Order: sequence, then C-alpha cells, then structure tokens
Amino acid sequence: MPELELRVAGSASSSKISIGPFEAGKAFSGSAPAAIIADSLVLRVFGTLLPPGPRIEVPRGESAKCLESLEAVWESFLELGLDRSSMVLAVGGGSTSDLAGLASSTWMRGLPFEYAPTTLLAMVDASVGGKTGIDFRGRKNLVGTFSQPRRVHCDVAFLDSLDELQFASGMAEAIKHAVLAGGTYAALVEDLGGIRPRASTAAGRAALEALVFGSIQIKAGIVSRDERESGERRLLNLGHSIGHALEAILGIPHGHAVAAGLASEARLGVILGHVDSATLKRLLDLLSAWKLPASMAAAFALAGKPDEGQGRVLAAEALAADKKRAGSELLIAFPAGADAGFGACVEHRIALDELATHMKSLP
Ligand SMILES: NC(=O)c1ccc[n+]([C@@H]2O[C@H](COP(=O)([O-])OP(=O)(O)OC[C@H]3O[C@@H](n4cnc5c(N)ncnc54)[C@H](O)[C@@H]3O)[C@@H](O)[C@H]2O)c1
Repeated sequence: MPELELRVAGSASSSKISIGPFEAGKAFSGSAPAAIIADSLVLRVFGTLLPPGPRIEVPRGESAKCLESLEAVWESFLELGLDRSSMVLAVGGGSTSDLAGLASSTWMRGLPFEYAPTTLLAMVDASVGGKTGIDFRGRKNLVGTFSQPRRVHCDVAFLDSLDELQFASGMAEAIKHAVLAGGTYAALVEDLGGIRPRASTAAGRAALEALVFGSIQIKAGIVSRDERESGERRLLNLGHSIGHALEAILGIPHGHAVAAGLASEARLGVILGHVDSATLKRLLDLLSAWKLPASMAAAFALAGKPDEGQGRVLAAEALAADKKRAGSELLIAFPAGADAGFGACVEHRIALDELATHMKSLP
C-alpha cells in the first residue's frame, strides 16, 4: 500500500497519507474514532463500511461550510464529551473535511483528526495540506486554520459512485498539479485522454491510485516546504483567484470554477506576456478532455446564469475580496515552465483595478 508522510519543515506537524483498500478499524491509527463526521449521502452509501462510533451528520456540499454547521458540530462534541484524547474521523468530500478539520482543530484548542476522502477532489487536494475552513458572508474559506490531519486514508473504490460532474471537478485540481509539476505527472494526466478509470477493474484501480498518489506527492512536497503559504505554496492557488470568485457568485462545483479560473488566468498571462499560446492550448486541451469549463463564459453557462456586464462586475468584486490580496494588488501565478509551458510558474503582481478591467473582456 503506497504511503507517504508529509512533514512540515521547522515544525512538529506531520500527516501520514496512505492509498489502498479501506478496512474499517485497520486504516486508522490507534484509538477508535470518538466521532465520525460525514454528510447524509456518504452515511447512506458507505455507512456500513465505516468503523463503529457515534455519527455526526453534516449538510452535503458547500452549504456545510458555514458557522451554523460549525456550531452544530461543536454541540455534538459537547454532547459526546469529546476531549483532547478523542480522535475525530471525517469521511467525505472536501466540504466535509474542511468543516470537520476546523471543528476539530479549534475544539479544546485541537483534537486529533483523520480523513477518509470519498471524492476525487478531496483525495488529490482537499484532504492534504492541513487547510481547514468555512465560508463567511459569501466569501470562500474566510475562517479557518492550518492543522494537519494525523492520517489520511485514500481508497479509490469510493470514487466509482461519483457522478461525471464530481469526477471532472476533481480532475481540475489534478490538471492544476500537472501544470505545476509538468514531466511524468503531466504525461500521466494527459494519457488518460478524458477517459475515467474505474476502481472495479484492477487496471482502473491502478490508474486511479497513480493519479491520486502523483497529485498527493506534488502537493505534500510543496506544503512540507511552505505550510503557511508564505512563498511556494501560493503556487497551489493557480487558477484559484478567478476560480474562487466564480465559485462564490455562480455556486458551481469547486473544480469547475478552478478550471474556468485556470483558463482565464492563463489567457490573462498571454495578454501580459508571461504565457505563450502553445501553453494555453495545452491547458485548454486538458480541460476540454474532461468537459470542464475553459472560460468565464462557459462557467456562467454551466451555472445557467446570463454572462452580461453585471455578472462580470460581481466576479470582479468577489475577486477584490480575495483573502490573498495585499492592499490594492493581487499576486497571480502563470504557467511558464520548460516542459512545453508546464513545470514552473512566474508570479505577477497586478492592481485590482487592472484586473477588474480584464475581467470584463476575457472570454
Ligand atoms: N482544504 C483544502 O486544501 C481544499 C483544497 C481544495 C478544495 N477544498 C474545498 O473542497 C470543497 C469541495 O469538495 P468536493 O469537491 O470534494 O465536494 P463536496 O465535499 O462538496 O461534495 C460534493 C458532493 O459529492 C457527494 N459525495 C461525496 N462522496 C461521494 C461518493 N463517493 N460518491 C458519490 N457522491 C459523493 C457529497 O455528498 C456532495 O453532494 C470546496 O469547499 C473547496 O473549497 C479544500
């Protein structure tokens, strides 16, 4: 079973990440979970596979990431008498793990918690790296902590029940890692050719595990060197400035918003002279292979909302509220590596006013 450890440089913080069949009771370290946090669908479909222990049900999807849900989870911790010796297990997608990680890392100043991700997006991205959070006043991830899960266990068999939209959403983050890393990981993602492997066959399981393992290696490597996003980790926000703005105003799946963000930011990079047209095409080909939106217009269409002036103004306003901004400027990364544009990025400081102007004219 492939396993790796994410050790944060200069801190005692670490996370063990393994990939392989999930066996309740065996996958997790030491003590049985004192509480299992999952949404209603995950409890219904996978409940019997989970270890015994009290269940805390949270809402499905992004709506779980709010103050009311956080309070409800804390209420359950209180009722169950959880203390610092209690381990919390979160099973589900990134919305569940972001909420559960925040609830656990703040309860009594921090309980140990572990994740069993059940979406592709959570396996390749959300469950790794220790960012927890909820949305606040319509803004993404405004409240959160950096807290590493003690363990993450990825069983790709969970992925076979995802619908095509949710699977593609996860592919958007894998594509982001392919752009960042280039080389063999980019080749692996391109070689899938938009065809989804299924864990029900041995070859499919191997392909999914390679996809998940490659992404985790890339992300864990970056986070281990820069947990708090003071430098290199900012690159993991590739596509996320415009992406988060689109997600906030359109309510489309996270990965679809990131896909439109990756494409739009790369187009901006072409205008600013950082990205060449062959790199843009390579990225657009990858996104279209998975039917992911490759423009802001496509993101509006996916949401069923008119792409008129006011929508773009709202997107620019949401962008100006980005928590990554510094004063009236935002740092945006553009793909500019030696592997046909992949494998490295350049960062560019752009004034929010200038960005707002581009937001109106980008496709
Ligand atoms: N913390 C991080 O570093 C980080 C990184 C990337 C994204 N995120 C966050 O992750 C969230 C998105 O997470 P997500 O895409 O995993 O989706 P999600 O958690 O919002 O779940 C989406 C839907 O998939 C369903 N689902 C879960 N597992 C399933 C399965 N195996 N089969 C069928 N349906 C299943 C859920 O019930 C839900 O309806 C966003 O809020 C995003 O901000 C966090």
